[in-house]
Amino acid sequence: MGQSVVLYLSNTGHTQAVAEKIAATTGSKLIAIKPQQAYSASDLDWTDHDSRSYHEMHGGYVRPAIEPVDSVAVGQATVVYLGFPLWWATAPRPIDTFLDSVDLSDKTVLPFCTSDSSAIDEAVHQLRVDYPAINWRDGRRFTSGVTAQEIRKWSSKA
Ligand SMILES: Cc1cc2nc3c(=O)[nH]c(=O)nc-3n(C[C@H](O)[C@H](O)[C@H](O)COP(=O)(O)O)c2cc1C
Repeated sequence: MGQSVVLYLSNTGHTQAVAEKIAATTGSKLIAIKPQQAYSASDLDWTDHDSRSYHEMHGGYVRPAIEPVDSVAVGQATVVYLGFPLWWATAPRPIDTFLDSVDLSDKTVLPFCTSDSSAIDEAVHQLRVDYPAINWRDGRRFTSGVTAQEIRKWSSKA
């Protein structure tokens, strides 16, 4: 197998904790996808229909600006682990911004998420529809208690 990278978006640390475990277990480089404007607590209030996150996810085509990502490391990878929190059961818009900015069509991409309870399937379905050139593997929802053994079993499907 070639090189691998773990790319992740995390606003309150849950996805980051899982991403760190995946990177350590698979020997991957760990790269954060960071919105240029970080999300504040009120931005993340999903009960407020006037919050930034609500508008981004319910406002049609939105691509929040992100910080530049290490394109050399991504370009050299053959396997990409792509992690994000679920927002309304789908991937937050900065993930779309990232996917619009890179060509991952020659790589295998394994999506993973954290969430309060929702499953990842709807998010992966949407990613497959929006980015059909990518070789998506089935996604996994992980909790911070994920073990190295579980990660190895999942990553062996790359
Ligand atoms: C705007 C917003 C929408 C969310 N929508 C869902 C959801 O639909 N289903 C769910 O189970 N959790 C939902 N959550 C909870 C997050 O997915 C969960 O807290 C996640 O682990 C946060 O990851 P992070 O700490 O890496 O940002 C939502 C959280 C936010 C802020």
